[in-house]
Amino acid sequence: MVLVGIMGAGKSAIGRRLAERLNLPFVDADTEIEAAANMTIPEMFEIHGEAYFRDGERRVITRLLSDGPQVLSTGGGAFMNDETRSRIKADSLSIWLYADFDILMERVRRKANRPLLKSPDPEAVMRALLEERNPVYAQADISVESRDGPHDVVVDAVVSSLHAHLLAAAGNSLHRPQGAADTASAPEPTGK
Ligand code: S3P
Repeated sequence: MVLVGIMGAGKSAIGRRLAERLNLPFVDADTEIEAAANMTIPEMFEIHGEAYFRDGERRVITRLLSDGPQVLSTGGGAFMNDETRSRIKADSLSIWLYADFDILMERVRRKANRPLLKSPDPEAVMRALLEERNPVYAQADISVESRDGPHDVVVDAVVSSLHAHLLAAAGNSLHRPQGAADTASAPEPTGK
């Protein structure tokens, strides 16, 4: 499964704990992109520009998606790429983590490693990104609020949403009209 959402939504922190809970490997796409490029994301933006980073992001996520069952956290812009989004939708289950604006700003202020927010007015940048991206993040299979407080509470919410989503998917396949092709076998909860 793949975590998507804006910077500060908690994709890495929640993803790591979700993976532990589900006994799956945890993979952070940004870390993998940095390893593949042998430089940090701020360096990539500074030396080669955003387009270079986006190209690496698309290629690395394509590779990671073929790695089998895992919890994959993606950077905030990954799901905005049409090709990446289509692959995630086809090969995995997507979870949108969203949070209040003030909570997002408080979280992103703790680290200075996000080139897009290196601006005299990071709040305005964040508002513009949210306006552009939220309708796209909303295309994820599941949406969960990433509240402040213990991470386990958010992980619990993700697990119950996953459960509900998979039960609904199984229910739909049970209600297939007679004679319809049997393409929708029962989903494997940990297999996506
Ligand atoms: C970005 C988000 C970052 C990182 C890069 C660009 C974005 O990841 O991929 O700085 O476009 O929103 P996080 O969402 O993990 O901060």
